[in-house]
Amino acid sequence: MSSLAVNDQPTATATPAKAIQPAWVRIVHWVNAVAMILMIMSGWQIYNASPLFDFTFSKTITLGGWLGGALLWHFAAMWLLMVNGLVYLVLGVATGRFRKKLLPITPEGVIADTRAALTGKLSHADLTKYNYVQKLLYAGIIVVGILIVLSGLAIWKPVQLQYLTALFGGYEAARYVHFFCMAAIVAFLVVHVVLALLVPKSLRAMIIGR
Ligand code: HEM
Repeated sequence: MSSLAVNDQPTATATPAKAIQPAWVRIVHWVNAVAMILMIMSGWQIYNASPLFDFTFSKTITLGGWLGGALLWHFAAMWLLMVNGLVYLVLGVATGRFRKKLLPITPEGVIADTRAALTGKLSHADLTKYNYVQKLLYAGIIVVGILIVLSGLAIWKPVQLQYLTALFGGYEAARYVHFFCMAAIVAFLVVHVVLALLVPKSLRAMIIGR
């Protein structure tokens, strides 16, 4: 709030502008990015030990060296991802951020903003507001993030968490859900990083807040 002098002119002691991305969002975002990359690269190594499809991932992009090493990385990064993700979900709801920044998402809004983006007319002037395509992608990836953790728990402890495993349609089905969530996250990440580089001021705001 800016203070006003007696003559109603703003004074030089006006408070600094609010950060575009608050500190807690920046911290959980970057911790999440590191955890996700560790999970994906070690996950590819684990997949290689028993592939679901007719291909394996090149060793140069995997983490852990072999199945045992990759499992250690995967289970270590899992705690980081889960605790950090829970902090993000709780604060996102408690501070009203999800409601204010990600909702509502309307089909008309998404269609109009997709059209504007494809014709180069989408404005990035106001970084405090996400456009409808961003809202949809961010809300979508949060849901995928929850699903990949739950399906991971289902294949990690299929006996202790048998109701969860059954909810996914069994162990094999949960493995496929886990794989396709990974594929969705990798696809999101490629688009997300390209867009962040195309609008560098948004990247700056996610690093230093303004
Ligand atoms: C490592 C590369 C990454 C870069 C360079 C990056 C960059 C960014 C930037 C610049 C923003 C702000 C967008 C804006 O203001 O328009 C953002 C927001 C966001 N990113 Fe990332 N990101 C990365 C990884 C990830 C990953 C791995 C995920 C999840 C799988 C993710 C999920 C999100 C979400 C959900 C938001 C919105 C957060 C909120 O407003 O609460 N990002 N990212």
